[in-house]
Amino acid sequence: MRTDTGQVFKLEDYRPNDYLIPETNLTFRLSPQATRVIAVLTVERRGGVSASAPLVLDGDGLTLLRVEIDGRPLEPADYMATPDQLTITTVPATPRFQLVIETEVAPAGNETLMGLYRSSNVYCTQCEAEGFRRITYFLDRPDVLSVYTVRIEARRDEAPLLLSNGNPVESADLTDGWHYAVWHDPFPKPSYLFALVAGDLGKVTDSFVTMSGRKVELGIYVEPGKEMLAGYAMDALKRSMRWDEEAFGCEYDLGVFNIVAVSDFNMGAMENKGLNIFNDKYVLADQETATDADFANIEAIIAHEYFHNWTGNRITCRDWFQLCLKEGLTVFRDHEFSADQRSRAVKRIAEVRTLRAHQFPEDQGPLAHPVRPRRYREINNFYTATVYEKGSEVVRMIRTILGDETFRAGMNLYFERHDGQAATIEDFIKVFEDASGRDLQQFALWYHQAGTPNLTVSSTHNPGSREFTLEIEQSVPPTPSESRKRLMHIPLAFGLVGADGEPVAYSSVEGATVENGVIHIRKRRHVVRFSGVAERPAVSLNRGFSAPVTLSVEQKADDQFFLAGHDSDAFSRWQAFNTILTDALIAAFRQILGGKPSVFASRLTDLAGKIAGDETLEPAYRALALALPSEADIARDIGKNIDPDAVFRSREALALAIATANKKLFSDLYDHLVDDDAFSPDAASAGRRALRNILLDYLSLLPAGRELAADHFHSATNMTDRAAALTVLAHRHHGSPEAIKALADFEAVYADDPLVMDKWLQIQASVPGPQTVDTVRALTRHSAFSMANPNRVRSLIGTFSSANQTGFHRADGDGYRFFTETVLEVEKRNPQVAARLATALRSWRSLEPGRQAKAREALLAIANAENLSADLRDIVERTLV
Ligand code: PHE
Ligand code: ZN
Repeated sequence: MRTDTGQVFKLEDYRPNDYLIPETNLTFRLSPQATRVIAVLTVERRGGVSASAPLVLDGDGLTLLRVEIDGRPLEPADYMATPDQLTITTVPATPRFQLVIETEVAPAGNETLMGLYRSSNVYCTQCEAEGFRRITYFLDRPDVLSVYTVRIEARRDEAPLLLSNGNPVESADLTDGWHYAVWHDPFPKPSYLFALVAGDLGKVTDSFVTMSGRKVELGIYVEPGKEMLAGYAMDALKRSMRWDEEAFGCEYDLGVFNIVAVSDFNMGAMENKGLNIFNDKYVLADQETATDADFANIEAIIAHEYFHNWTGNRITCRDWFQLCLKEGLTVFRDHEFSADQRSRAVKRIAEVRTLRAHQFPEDQGPLAHPVRPRRYREINNFYTATVYEKGSEVVRMIRTILGDETFRAGMNLYFERHDGQAATIEDFIKVFEDASGRDLQQFALWYHQAGTPNLTVSSTHNPGSREFTLEIEQSVPPTPSESRKRLMHIPLAFGLVGADGEPVAYSSVEGATVENGVIHIRKRRHVVRFSGVAERPAVSLNRGFSAPVTLSVEQKADDQFFLAGHDSDAFSRWQAFNTILTDALIAAFRQILGGKPSVFASRLTDLAGKIAGDETLEPAYRALALALPSEADIARDIGKNIDPDAVFRSREALALAIATANKKLFSDLYDHLVDDDAFSPDAASAGRRALRNILLDYLSLLPAGRELAADHFHSATNMTDRAAALTVLAHRHHGSPEAIKALADFEAVYADDPLVMDKWLQIQASVPGPQTVDTVRALTRHSAFSMANPNRVRSLIGTFSSANQTGFHRADGDGYRFFTETVLEVEKRNPQVAARLATALRSWRSLEPGRQAKAREALLAIANAENLSADLRDIVERTLV
């Protein structure tokens, strides 16, 4: 484990290295305890660099066995080796030389899951961001691009399959039961994209013919016996390959494309060139074991990693400050792919819900950072919702500002100009400036300035002068180390909606640039006057969520109800109803704190019924509309002094009011939605299941709801319905005989399927109430759980601490005590996973004072632990500041 050195890396300190490594030849002799790695590197001094400049290579916990230059062992005086660095002080005067480094590593004991490790007896690697230096000494930075040739040797019985990046070159038997394979990747790449896999795996094959007629062999490798679970992933891969050709002109460039699923993985998946490595959770699926959400995630992540081939691999990042260059852009691309494969409106609503649930709290709390950060202590902690999700929103805004065609022209220029390079955000912005002739410098603040901008909007209508006025004011709240903010360029899509639901025409507009339904906010305050408007329209703001901002709008409740029923923009229509729900929940929260009963307007509960039964709307859309804001959403909108128990009660009260008011309608609709057709994971079928399952959730609150949920559970023919019913039973009817039986039945059927047991852990970890901390403690000793496996840890501990408001924030602080103990225990094996878990307390300052004090104690207890890893110390210290 790397303990913290306190070193801070700064963007302004970037300079290219004195040396380059144009060619890398690696030989691996694999064994669990002692793998030999021989690196033969062609090293080149950059022009103008003095011959006396030392060559300083990165390492991390390495054992050096041999170092030679141009065939001669180095003299002890000519180099210095520590586990974390190899410095060659005497470098040949020739501009190019050959450096040979032999190291030994122990994959079997590597629980960090970085570098070379073993997962269920399969050798695999993870090198992003700085894992390659755990394999050999190298210039382990993304601006050093090298052409790799890799030879893997292993015992054939232990590892019949030997994979690396690029194309296969040769393979044959060796003596004593060993064999080898050689792979060559012709595309220069940074070390973080290196990958190796060796083991005994099952294979699913297919092929794809690219737009220029080249045939690509596709392979997905899974645990033997699980081949039949890889079909959906393979289908998603082929659809992704076609889509990237059609939408962006991006064609695949190697003869093979392989995906390997492993069960121990720190993240979702990794885009290594030609050899993507996946968390098996995002590959394996069938109707028995995967929910519709799992299918959608698989499709999105397969696409995401594949799309990195151009946005990330062919064009990579100059340094890790530029992480959003590949991640924000690739998320944008996978969002567009899913929108095209499914329903665009539904996809957009889901994206915005995710952004608000994960990125907004980050941006509004102590861990806030710009989409392109300027400093970091531990890069692993910057794979964040801000870099990924807000990064994607920024690319979307560029498209909104430029329009589809010019955006596409800019992307073409990007691929043309920067192919084969390690680029920066400045390069990215420049291609769009050049393609459009526009100045995007103010817009670029979206990359440089942290915090969620707020727009305050009010409107007036003057029937006499037929003028409609919008007053819009922007502000960006202060964030850590950025107290003063500059004014941003915010593209605000809008609509003026007339009483008939049609757009209201206006003759002219002044006070801001308005183009294609977008108001360009650039100043602190704009007074936007629309003339020729006879009747007062309802304003629909931030249509399609054109900018990732919060809105403070003075709007009549009548207008909100009107828009929730009539806005022609599906996103904004959903938003209007969601705002109505949020306002009602906040009011109920205050009533509960004041000791009063919560009452809800009948027009709200009626509208819920109307949306549920509106056959002109897609079922998936209706399901999303009926899903109440989560407890965390409500807490975020309240902002401070949060009592999670009162939030919970307000949400339960509203759910009951909606269910009671729509009992007959919901129950008829529920019966009517039964699906007798054969299972299909497509979006329309999934949408019907989603609607039926949310109706079940409401109906479960009414008399006989428990029996209904139990029936739903026992008659389910797919995991989506089964998991939904189990959640309803476990959460709403906790401790009932039906809940206990369903949990036991589920466990009995799926005990041997860890990915399904993750759902069982998650469902129990998210049961509301103070008793859950004890359940979770007990489950840490269950055979389905393991502290060493990130999926298990995230399912049980991660779910409890970040998705169980009443359980985790239990008033006596026991949830936090459990959290401290567990984070420190996970850290001993896997600092990266521990650091991510620790972010669960990032919003501690918005709690009521009692809980706040206890949360702070828990954070201090972590901060004061000895030998903290760089990963965990960085998170905890920033959270406490
Ligand atoms: N680059 C991966 C992705 O977004 C994420 C990742 C980062 C995976 C670091 C592993 C380690 O696609
Ligand atoms: Zn990515």
